[in-house]
Parts: sequence; C-alpha cells; structure tokens
Amino acid sequence: MSQTQTPALRIGLAGLGTVGIGVVKIVQRHAALIAARTGRGVEIVAVSARDPKKQRDADLSGYAWETDPVALARRPDIDVFVEVMGGHEGPARLATEAAIASGKDVVTANKALLAHHGLGLALAAEAAGRVIRFEAAVAGGIPVIKALTEGLAANQMRRVMGVMNGTCNYILTRMQSAGLPYEAVFEEARQLGYLEADPNLDVGGIDAGHKLSLLSAIAFGTRVSFDAVELEGIGAISIDDINLAADMGYRIKLLGVAQMTGRGLEQRMTPCLVPADSPLGQLQGGTNMVVLEGDAVGQIVLRGPGAGEGPTASAVMADVMDLARGIRLPTFGQPAVTLATPIAAKTATPAAWYLRMTLLDKPGALAKIATCLGEAGVSIDQMRQYGHQGANAPVLIVTHKATRDDIDHAVARFAGTGVLVGAPVALRIEEV
Ligand code: NAP
Ligand code: HSE
Repeated sequence: MSQTQTPALRIGLAGLGTVGIGVVKIVQRHAALIAARTGRGVEIVAVSARDPKKQRDADLSGYAWETDPVALARRPDIDVFVEVMGGHEGPARLATEAAIASGKDVVTANKALLAHHGLGLALAAEAAGRVIRFEAAVAGGIPVIKALTEGLAANQMRRVMGVMNGTCNYILTRMQSAGLPYEAVFEEARQLGYLEADPNLDVGGIDAGHKLSLLSAIAFGTRVSFDAVELEGIGAISIDDINLAADMGYRIKLLGVAQMTGRGLEQRMTPCLVPADSPLGQLQGGTNMVVLEGDAVGQIVLRGPGAGEGPTASAVMADVMDLARGIRLPTFGQPAVTLATPIAAKTATPAAWYLRMTLLDKPGALAKIATCLGEAGVSIDQMRQYGHQGANAPVLIVTHKATRDDIDHAVARFAGTGVLVGAPVALRIEEV
C-alpha cells in the first residue's frame, strides 16, 4: 500500500552572510536528520543577498536567485520566508511584511526588527493566520524563546536576567584577564570581527536591550516596549572599575534585568556588579547566559554561544523544523491582541551602588561628598580612599540600597562641592 509523503517545507532565504550561510550548510548537511525528525524534508528554493557575484562558503547552485528580497518573500513556491539580512527598516521590514501579506510564515534572527516593529508584525501575522518565529534573535544558539514559551509556559515569571551581548562580555572579561584598558580591548574586538558594523549597537547596550525587550514581552505578556528599556553602555567602564570590583568580590557585566513590580514593568540593560562566584559572575568571553525565574519552577540558568554561524543557524533551523512539524505558536507565546500595554516603572528597584570618583586630596573633601549623599537620602555602607595620584585621591563608596534617582541627585550635588575631578562612575550592585 503506498503512503502519501508530506511534501518538503520550502524556504526562501534572504541574507547569505554569517547566519544565512550557516542555514544553507545545516540544510545541506543534515537533510536526512531533518526529514527524520520532522516527518518531511526542508528544502531551500530561492535565496537573496545584495551581491550575486560574492564568493560564498557554500554551494548555492541549486537555488533560484532573487535580487529583491521582497520578490523572494512573495514567491508562490515558498512556504516560509527566512529573514537573516538585519536592520529594523528597509528590506528586512518590507520583505517580512510582504511575506506575511502573501501568506508565508516567517523565521527571523533580527532582534532590531522585532524590538521596533514586533507588535505590528505579530498582529499582522496572526490576523493572516501566519506565524513569526525568532529563536535566533535572542542569545543566538541558546533555546531561550522555546524555554519561555513552552517549557515554562505554566509559570508566572518573576524575573528575566542575563548577559545577552557576547561582544560586551568579551571586552569586560578580557580587560580583567589581560589587565588592558577599554580602548585596547575594544580595538582587539574590532580586529577579531566581533563588533557590529555600528559598534554602538554592542557597546551602547542597544543590541542587548533589543533582546531583553523581546524576552520581557513573552515573560510578562506585554507589548514589546524597547523604548522603555533603561540603556547604558560599557564605554565608561575603566580598568580601575574592573579591578576595584574584583577586590570587593564582584565582576562587572552588561546585565539585562526585566521584572514586573508593583510600580510597573522594569527593564534595564546596564553595567552592574554581580558576585564573582555567581553563574553570571563566572561567565567568560563571548558566551551568553540567561537566567529565568518562575513562580513554580524557581530559577533556570541557560548558558551558551550567543552568536556565530553555527549557533545562530542552529536556532533558525529549530524554528524552521517546528514549522515543518506543524508546531504553530503565537509570536510572543500568546495572541498578540491579548498582550497588555505595559506601564513602565519610573524608578528601578533600589539597590546598593558602587560609586568611584576622583577627589582633590584636601581636608574636608570626603566630608563634602558624604554630605551630598546624606542630603540625597543615600546612606554609605563602605568608603575607601585609594592612596594618592598627585594632588588627587581616588575614592570608592559603596552605598546601602538606594534608587537610581537618589544616586543621580547625589551625583548632581557632587559637582557643586568644588572637590570632584572628572565624572564619577555609578554602578548598581545586582542581587542575582
Ligand atoms: P551579515 O553577515 O552582515 O549578512 C547579511 C546578509 O544580508 C548578507 O548576505 C547581505 O548581502 C544581505 N543583505 C543585506 N542587505 C541586503 C539587501 N538590502 N538586500 C538583500 N540582501 C541584503 O549578517 P549576519 O551576521 O548574518 O546577521 C543577519 C541577522 O542575524 C541580523 O539581523 C543579525 O542581528 C542576526 N544575528 C546575527 C548573529 C551573528 O552571530 N552573526 C547572531 C544572532 C542574530 P551581501 O552578502 O551580498 O552583502
Ligand atoms: N553583536 C551580538 C553579540 C551578536 O555580540 O552578542 C549576536 O546578536
């Protein structure tokens, strides 16, 4: 008796860079494995990139070429449009919209696109009965979207935290291990090809902020609100901060934290001190870590490669294979029309703060700074002067719990004391 074979899932692939070529390699290398695990094949029908003449590290001869990714998205002979071009406007947005409008499911690695337009795209897709999947957009090869939308679906999520930009973690850990200043390691990262074309996406915390806003939407059932993420990059972190934090038993990380509080949704991506012996504190190099806390499950820690050809293509293909299996979940884990409009918490949860500053080394200087903190309602836990640098004195203060506003008020007052040299560095000490 003959059995009807389900036809292969046909994909159109827009983008043949690091991730796109990784996808081609997996489809070619693992055709049999993919067919066995999905019950049908997955085949690439057509591809698109800017330069048709560019030498690429894969055999593309069996695929049709489309100059325009929008035309690729509209092709009647594809089921799924895979968008791995990048950018939150232009071709990535236009082609994704075209794919949905012409009845295609979408798999994307593009966190910028979804952080800016995720709600509109999800609404459009769901109204059309289509699906958008984006596992690769957050923490590369770590299956964190699947963990949140499926494995932890029965939990009220309490907090989502993590190191989600490998480049920043590389820079911060390399500064510590090699004792090198920020500028030198930034240059190393550039030469190693770790930096985005616009490095501020990495070191300004924007890329990681995009990722946090997507996790936050799933975890708390809210509309993506990237604009409400408090963002601070790592450019002001000096080797002195790295060393002083280490002396106190801490590491500095570009840490994302999202939690629903009585004051609203708190989302921040800022450099923080975390205990050196915590999983986050021990995270080295370009690796990512996401910590998920749910009311029933407690704490889950996921660690792995957040970028690169293989890991990111692995996540793209996991989404493609789910579609091949007929698994169709709403983009953010619940129908987009049911996502609540979040109220952004105006002030973040109070924390202890690390304050490093340089003062003129003269009588009463420290007392003036202590007075400013007192007047701003900030209590001092520890205070140390680290010798002298000529006429200057490096000073470290650790506060009791205070809000960001209180710290900002105190720092604003420092400027009027006449003893401050340069700008102070203020970093949260996060309880993880
Ligand atoms: P990439 O290496 O720069 O590749 C981008 C690809 O898109 C190139 O093939 C490029 O064509 C093509 N492209 C760009 N603009 C185009 C246009 N206007 N029309 C047609 N094709 C166009 O980027 P990538 O690193 O693979 O990243 C792709 C996406 O994955 C981005 O959204 C990124 O944020 C995300 N992502 C990347 C990583 C990673 O480790 N790389 C990790 C997670 C997520 P040409 O080759 O002809 O120039
Ligand atoms: N620039 C990103 C990083 C790439 O360094 O983590 C992956 O999104």
